[in-house]
Formats: sequence, structure tokens, C-alpha cells
Amino acid sequence: MQILKTIADMRQATTAARLASNAPIGLVPTMGALHEGHLSLVRAASQQCGTVVVSIFVNPTQFAPGEDLDRYPRTLEADLALLEQEGVDLVFVPSAREMYPNGIAATIVSTHVEVPEISDRLDGLSRPGHFRAVATVVAKLFHIVGPDLAFFGAKDAVQVAVLRAMVRDLDFPLRIVVCPTVRDADGLALSSRNSFLTPQERTHALTLSRALETARLIASHGSPTAEALREAMLSLLHGDLGVRVDYAEVVHPDTLEPLAHIRDGALLAVAAWVGETRLIDNLLLSPP
Ligand code: PAJ
Repeated sequence: MQILKTIADMRQATTAARLASNAPIGLVPTMGALHEGHLSLVRAASQQCGTVVVSIFVNPTQFAPGEDLDRYPRTLEADLALLEQEGVDLVFVPSAREMYPNGIAATIVSTHVEVPEISDRLDGLSRPGHFRAVATVVAKLFHIVGPDLAFFGAKDAVQVAVLRAMVRDLDFPLRIVVCPTVRDADGLALSSRNSFLTPQERTHALTLSRALETARLIASHGSPTAEALREAMLSLLHGDLGVRVDYAEVVHPDTLEPLAHIRDGALLAVAAWVGETRLIDNLLLSPP
């Protein structure tokens, strides 16, 4: 496994991989603190690609002031050991200075990738600027690595919708592969931020997946309106005093626009604070 720290070295490594073989190159972008959710993407990439590249970069621009950039878990040694075990070929571990040589202050004029509308829905509402920063850093990673396939988790539904639109609108020559959300046995979606939860908070965190499952159950036993499903999720979330709801929505999976009915399937999405930690989860209802 090769570890690359500079853009020039990373480019050289993928160019060499392309010369050596026609097999597709797969990229799994991450911010590290790797868990089974990330590793499921790595395994999907290994199955579908000849060369697997994983990037580990805690992208500072996608954290607003007051968000958890400083306390975001950083476990590079353990991450590299896990990736080695998975047989990953190349790991890109750039510094913030390498990715943003001019700095990241809001006053610095620089180029951004903006995917309007979708970026302002769901998490975008409470995290203004977040998805512009995600689209921009992922566009940079796509240009640096040049993958044929790029792997993302369904858990971050807005991220997936934003990046799909970006790839389509800007003609990136690659395909986005979306992998299912990996959960603990009790239903909690794996997240690097789960490590912030106290044991008691962790039990409250389960209310998110329970709310989604309850809505799924209701949908499977009749044809409720989207509003009825939304209210069912909200009533469960509000019923847990350890949970502060950000949103519970029933939306179109691509446009993220609120739906009136769920005849053609729907994305159920929730976000809530448990203590100091903001958690998200979602579930795709397929058409009956
Ligand atoms: P990060 O939160 O580290 O997540 C990296 C990838 O792992 C994302 O595609 C995310 O959706 C996926 N992932 C996280 N938890 C998962 C789970 N429980 N099951 C399946 N997949 C899961 O998302 C980011 O980093 C960043 O925004 C990034 C795309 C790297 C840009 O900075």
C-alpha cells in the first residue's frame, strides 16, 4: 500500500496504475476515523475496480465555525492499518495546506462548485455552505485522482444527491456508486461522530432509526400520505426528551423536494441533536 501526501505524487501514482492496467480505478473519499461503513465502500471498490484509492482528509471548509472540526476524531495510524488489511492500493493523505495553499478564510476569493437548490435542502438548511464545500473538495479529489468509479454511502443522502448532480452537470467522466448504510445490530447507523456519544446518549440516538423504521412499517400497511409519515416520525422523535429534532422529512430521493404522496417511493430523512452531537439517518422507501 502506497501513502501519498502531495497532489503531484497522487497524480503520478494513478497515472502509473492506468499505464499498468486497463482495469477501473476506484476512489473512496473519507475524512478518516474509519468504521465498517467506510470499509463497506472500500470492499465494494475492491470488487469492482483494479486499483483502489482511499483519500483521508478532514476537509476544514465543510465545517462551519462552531461545528466540530477541532474535536473531529483523527485516528490515522489505525485507519492505515485497516486499509492495509483491506488490500487498498493507494491512500491519499494530503495536508490542508496541500489542498488549500491560499488558506481557507472566507475572505479569500477562490473557485467553488455550487449545486443550487439541492444544497439548501435538509442538512443544507441548517448547514449553509456545507455542501458547496463538499462539492468543491470532491471535485478537487476527482481531478487529482481521476477515478472511473467513486463510492459514497447512502447514509449521507444530500451529499449523494449533490455529487450526482455535480457529476452530471459538469460532465465528470466517472460513475458514482452508492452503497447501503451500515448499521450496528441495534439499528444505529455507523458514524464517526457516534464516538462522541455517552452510553446514555447512544440509547437516545436509537430513536432516529426507530422513527424511520416506524414510518416504513406504517407505509407497508397502507397508503399513508407523506405528511402522515412525517408526523409519525416527528411524534417519536419529540417523544424522546434526549433528542432535539432538526428535521424529519419525506422527499424525492434525487431532487430532495418534499413529497405530497409516496406512490413512487420516497426518501425518509431525519436529523437530530443528541447532547452535543448532530446525527443524521435516512431510509429509502421503494414504490409498492
Ligand atoms: P465521511 O463522513 O468520512 O464519510 C466517507 C464516506 O463514508 C461517505 O460516502 C459516507 O456516506 C460513507 N459512510 C459513512 N457512514 C456510513 C455508513 N454507516 N454506511 C455506509 N457508508 C457510510 O462524507 C464525508 O466523509 C465527506 O463529506 C467527504 C465525502 C469525504 C468529503 O470531504
